[in-house]
Amino acid sequence: MDSINNIVQAEALGKQVTSPEGPLTILNDINLSIKEGESLAVIGVSGSGKSTLLGLLAGLDLPSNGRVILDGNDLSRLDEDGRAKIRNKYIGFVFQSFQLLPGLTALENTSLPLELANIDNAEELAKQRLDEVGLLERLHHYPNQLSGGEQQRVAIARAFAGKPRILFADEPTGNLDQQTAHRIIELLFKLNKENGTTLVMVTHDNEIAKLCDRQIVIAGGQLST
Ligand SMILES: Nc1ncnc2c1ncn2[C@@H]1O[C@H](COP(=O)(O)OP(=O)(O)OP(=O)(O)O)[C@@H](O)[C@H]1O
Ligand SMILES: [Mg+2]
Repeated sequence: MDSINNIVQAEALGKQVTSPEGPLTILNDINLSIKEGESLAVIGVSGSGKSTLLGLLAGLDLPSNGRVILDGNDLSRLDEDGRAKIRNKYIGFVFQSFQLLPGLTALENTSLPLELANIDNAEELAKQRLDEVGLLERLHHYPNQLSGGEQQRVAIARAFAGKPRILFADEPTGNLDQQTAHRIIELLFKLNKENGTTLVMVTHDNEIAKLCDRQIVIAGGQLST
């Protein structure tokens, strides 16, 4: 099997949860290979399982069935510490809900992961990243002093600050006006082209999806072809 260039591989991935209505299958039998340097759009209606899939591929959440292999590392064989190490080494993640730390400023939110990774000049690098997303004038604002779109841009700056090999972005332009969205998308693709960052992006925007090398559709928790 040609899996050499696959940085992410999902095998028979499934996720079931217990919901107020009883057992619920969110994802079922997802098989997916993502090549290093590829850009992939994940599309599908609300509730189809896109965010759940991203969380599993990034090792933030555990599947009920199947497994995820990240650059040869079987995530199901690792404990939370092991998965955290892999995430720190490989992954940037832009959450749909941003997940900024409320007690830290824009600059601190962006520099924290760099400091945790012992990267020199963490603050300087974080500043550069925030400049690239147009937030140089908001460095010392706390999340509750930022607009929704500004928080989203901090989340994006934080996710790509450490130049991850894989960037997962869950509707990264969902809260942005067209012009700002365009700028952010250009930035993500620049990262993809210049650094070879693998880009996995959930989007409801067909134009953005078309810019990606490949599109996959999730429907009712399954890959639809
Ligand atoms: N922890 C949970 N417990 C119960 N149900 C859940 C849980 N997490 C997600 N779901 C359900 O699973 C389905 C898929 O959720 P998911 O967040 O992956 O959808 P999505 O495709 O990202 O949707 P959207 O486009 O609205 O962001 C939804 O119907 C949701 O209600
Ligand atoms: Mg979602």
